[in-house]
Amino acid sequence: MADSKIESVLREDRVFEPPQAFVEQAKLKPADVEALYQAAQDDHEGFWAERAREHIDWHKPFTQTLDSANAPFFKWFTDGELNVSYNCLDRHLDTKGDKTAIIFESDDGEVEHISYRELHARVCRFANALKANGLGKGDRAVIYLPNVPQAAIAMLACARIGAIHSVVFGGFSAPSLRDRIDDAEAKMLITADGNYRGGKLIPLKDVADKALSQGGASIEKVIVLKRSGTDVAMTSGRDIWWHDAIDGQSDDCPPEWVNAEHPLFILYTSGSTGKPKGIQHSTGGYLLGAICTCRWVFDLSDDDVFWCTADVGWITGHTYIAYGPTACGATQVMFEGVPTYPEPDRFWKMVDTHQVTIFYTAPTAIRALMKHGDEYPQRHALDSLKVLGTVGEPINPEAWMWYRKMIGHDRCPIVDTWWQTETGGHMITPIPSYTPTKPGSVTRALPGIDADILDEAGKPVTDAGAGGVLVIKKPWPYMLRTIWGDPERYKETYFGMYDAHTYVAGDSAQRDEQGNFRILGRIDDVVNISGHRLGTMEVESALVAHAEVAEAAVVSRPHEVKGEAIVAFVILKSGEGNDELASDLRNWVAEQLGAIAKPEEIRFADGLPKTRSGKIMRRLLRTVARGDEVTQDVSTLENPQILEQLQARGS
Ligand code: WTA
Repeated sequence: MADSKIESVLREDRVFEPPQAFVEQAKLKPADVEALYQAAQDDHEGFWAERAREHIDWHKPFTQTLDSANAPFFKWFTDGELNVSYNCLDRHLDTKGDKTAIIFESDDGEVEHISYRELHARVCRFANALKANGLGKGDRAVIYLPNVPQAAIAMLACARIGAIHSVVFGGFSAPSLRDRIDDAEAKMLITADGNYRGGKLIPLKDVADKALSQGGASIEKVIVLKRSGTDVAMTSGRDIWWHDAIDGQSDDCPPEWVNAEHPLFILYTSGSTGKPKGIQHSTGGYLLGAICTCRWVFDLSDDDVFWCTADVGWITGHTYIAYGPTACGATQVMFEGVPTYPEPDRFWKMVDTHQVTIFYTAPTAIRALMKHGDEYPQRHALDSLKVLGTVGEPINPEAWMWYRKMIGHDRCPIVDTWWQTETGGHMITPIPSYTPTKPGSVTRALPGIDADILDEAGKPVTDAGAGGVLVIKKPWPYMLRTIWGDPERYKETYFGMYDAHTYVAGDSAQRDEQGNFRILGRIDDVVNISGHRLGTMEVESALVAHAEVAEAAVVSRPHEVKGEAIVAFVILKSGEGNDELASDLRNWVAEQLGAIAKPEEIRFADGLPKTRSGKIMRRLLRTVARGDEVTQDVSTLENPQILEQLQARGS
């Protein structure tokens, strides 16, 4: 099915020029975009230096743009000093203090408008509370909060005092939270009693307590936001309520000026080993990426209402909720709930209520809502919309066309944005007034981003339709700086395949006749479930940690709504598996890692197909999981009879 998806994308020949009406009102005109591309082409470093001077308020201007001396550990604007929260808040106060920064809608539909002045005051007060509780420059704070304004406030408050945040998505389990706390040796945990999503209680504090009972020895203080009002245990001397922590704190907190290379945050993401990696981002370069991409890709300007539906727990929520829109002084919507609650028209209703002009979501949400039927978007006018965006996984042409027609009414350009936790912001994507779009295509790299496709020997793949390894051949300001605590892994993972200047994204891609990029999928053992990255090894480790499991291999198969779904092949220590154990194991994985990681199917077997050298033949397992005909050569299999068994046991 994945192959047939790629096929249909390859045959795709519908091209949509930027709509004239959109171009006429766009802030960034085609000629401006052309000029950006040209300037970046002429002088890569000079181009980024100019952007950094144009878009960032520096406390101390930089004199050096790029330092490649220690490649692949690149530094940008390295002698400059700034503060991200100053750039996101203070600099707007004179001209837009009363402008709404955040329109927050809670799960149950309550709406709160927060102006820039108010947001600034709340960030300052919380920043002072952090300091009063012992958090300082360079210290790590883990933020385990729902998607509520306080999450953005906590992030901006850390930035204000030079502390490094590590946001952990509220859907992650206690062991995942604990591992992230331990890896970053965080001093503080910021969480909530709980919250409601889709009407369901998420008991964040309980999970946090569990995480801290199993590890988390570095945590000195836990700040707890009262959100659900549920009863929670408070450990005396360690836990403090948010409202008590800010009580009496001043709403003035001078920003801590930090070096452009000072780490702004760490965000953990999955890779091909069992241990998630702490992706470390910088202050200056990261901020620049957030601003430029908001302006270029969304055409974001003062009269827009921007809405990114991601959770702040993911990179999309970092760049396109906490930092990008605020640094641009825009008004944005932030939403605590889910798209289908109370009804599957929640998104569309909110678009009308808040007069959203730019809407950014994930293909999995589009596919899920598409399945509910056209009647839901048809209930709403949706005429405020100007630009539609998607991110996180390949979008199938059917969903793209539905999005364009049913949500964009054939008038809004769609920006299919390819990027990663590591890249910090958009990399390959249309620019709405400029780039012709095609369903399923991420089109071309942004100005200042040098993307290419290479074969294994490092030669550019130029033939249309031929696949290869997606790389970025020049450093860019908003790239990751390292993996927290593991520079060797950084070097090896991202720059190990070719050379120290060629960033390997972990995706494969191809070009069409016009040179547009199409993303084909991961080349490592990472799967993409509902737009969320997950390492198959993480799921395997969770399975083998179960008392009855001897061995496990995890692959994915295509799924109509989630994009991919997990199929786990499990070998038991003894006995045959049954439905009850399968269900136990699925729940076990969810408890270990979080609900996203729950396998769709567990298949019990007596052994795994292995080569004579003992390697699990994952490609073969993938074929079996999909129910496809096995065409691979199985003559090297050590245990050929296993294959029949695996196939026969499929449901
Ligand atoms: C995939 C999310 C196709 C890709 C911002 C990448 C995409 C991984 C797209 C990063 C897209 C992201 N089309 N695939 N528009 N956007 N991906 O770190 O495999 O959660 O490597 O960052 O998602 O996922 P991450």
